Amino acid sequence: MKKNAKILVGAVGIVAVLAIAYRMVNQAPSADLPANEQMEQILTDGGCLACHSANPKLPFYANWPVAKGLIGKHVKDGYATFDVAPFMASLRNGSQPNEVDLAKVEQTIADGSMPLSQYYLVHWGSSITSTKREQMLAGVKEMRAKFFPNPLAAPQFANETVRPVPDSIPYDARKAALGDVLYHDTRLSADGTISCATCHGLNTGGVDNKRYSEGIKGQLGGVNAPTVYNACFNFVQFWDGRAGTLAEQAGGPPLNPVEMGCKSFDEIVARLSEDKAFVDSFTVAYPEGLSQATITDAIAEFEKTLVTPNSAFDRYLKGDEQAMTAEQIAGYDLFKQYDCATCHAGVNMGGLTYELMGQRANYFEDRELTQKSGLTDGDNGRWAQTKDEHDRYRFKTPTLRNVALTYPYYHDGSVQTLNEAITMMAKYQVGREMSAADAQKVESFLNALTGEYKGKLLVNDNMK
Ligand code: HEC
Ligand code: HEC
Ligand code: HEC
Repeated sequence: MKKNAKILVGAVGIVAVLAIAYRMVNQAPSADLPANEQMEQILTDGGCLACHSANPKLPFYANWPVAKGLIGKHVKDGYATFDVAPFMASLRNGSQPNEVDLAKVEQTIADGSMPLSQYYLVHWGSSITSTKREQMLAGVKEMRAKFFPNPLAAPQFANETVRPVPDSIPYDARKAALGDVLYHDTRLSADGTISCATCHGLNTGGVDNKRYSEGIKGQLGGVNAPTVYNACFNFVQFWDGRAGTLAEQAGGPPLNPVEMGCKSFDEIVARLSEDKAFVDSFTVAYPEGLSQATITDAIAEFEKTLVTPNSAFDRYLKGDEQAMTAEQIAGYDLFKQYDCATCHAGVNMGGLTYELMGQRANYFEDRELTQKSGLTDGDNGRWAQTKDEHDRYRFKTPTLRNVALTYPYYHDGSVQTLNEAITMMAKYQVGREMSAADAQKVESFLNALTGEYKGKLLVNDNMK
């Protein structure tokens, strides 16, 4: 008994000393520093790089038996969900960060989930005190205003991670008109049966509503067709990002053997050249004449016209409080609470980063249980381009604009309903179970994301 009491007094003493030492060690950066430097210091002290980068500098004890397993797992899981190095670099240079990185850091600082408590118990001074939190959130706000100005939003929504779709973006009208013709032209396919619009119908949400698209001779592709609407806002094109620009993207389908099946653009140029009227109008806009470069440039110019502003949600963000129903507003709150608005951020609510599909639960293992389809090439995602293991199962986050019209869902087109796609996102990407009532509200909110094209609310003829 006596011995225990001694130990207890000793323990209390040690805790008290630790608490004092902790206070001394855990200093917030000076408020005189510029915001980006304050943020860099807080994140450096927070050890974010230790668990969220490809080559972390690990502490000396990282190789000790017990520590090795624990630290290894944290670093593996941490780096799999988030690579903080590019964000740290942008803080250091004062340059533009990725909008999603900014949103993710803001989210974890606001909800106090990072750094993991296991880390700051060992690394005193790393935890985010309330002063540091305030500095971080103010810094994020400042950076957002500077790098992602949001003039369309009402003041109370200026710091949201999602921004309204602009009414239009600059484009060359003459070239776009030619691109419009080419987009609907089956002469871009080997047997004259398929145009871009076959798989990306403008009256069917910019998609074909099929699990896998059907190209020439009934051949099926390996991934679901994303929408062409608002594709101009994506940072790269395709699920695996293999095209950097819309023009580069447009060069793909005509030569893809299962899509339009042409041997080369020479074949397409030869076919189009027989059409004197078309060639005449084409050379007015492009004196250099028909070629892969000019054809794909015209199509890309046309795709810049495929923006869909003025959804109920956009009107709400611009300050029209009546634009969304109470259920939709509740759904938007849930969308933010469940962290959906971190990956699905920006104007396009997606299309800004590659994300691991199944970061909180194994999507592909579970899919196998119900669908028994095995893994496909399309499942590899970004890995197909980089062959870096870190990129396997990582996909460009799809836009949620007009998502009510663009079923079926996911890169594999395996999910039929929006409701299911939402509930599954909560499980596989956020690691939370979403109740049916919550999913209903989020679905209602996503229905408010259908925008206008040529001044009319977009509809999907397949849904009539
Ligand atoms: C000890 C390792 C460790 C440290 C230190 C750490 N994290 Fe994490 N972080 C993780 C792990 C593991 C996950 C994924 C699973 C989880 O949340 O438990 C994660 C997840 C995240 C995510 C993704 C959240 C999401 O929902 O997708 C972000 C963003 C993040 N951390 C930011 C930070 C920031 C910012 C810091 C520094 C202030 C930090 N982390 C410090 C281990 C760490
Ligand atoms: C046979 C059906 C088919 C045809 C024809 C087709 N596409 Fe696609 N499109 C797809 C599929 C499937 C994908 C996704 C492929 C991938 O990510 O690997 C895609 C991807 C895209 C994307 C990328 C969108 C994003 O969010 O990543 C754009 C833009 C696009 N197509 C435009 C076009 C244009 C322009 C044409 C005509 C030149 C065209 N498509 C012809 C099926 C088709
Ligand atoms: C960590 C990033 C991340 C988070 C968080 C996230 N998503 Fe996603 N979302 C993705 C990615 C990546 C895909 C594509 C997955 C695939 O195709 O396999 C996707 C796909 C979707 C789709 C299907 C879109 C389509 O056209 O196929 C919907 C709907 C969706 N997410 C809604 C949500 C909702 C609602 C939440 C919050 C509960 C959420 N997402 C959270 C990254 C994320």
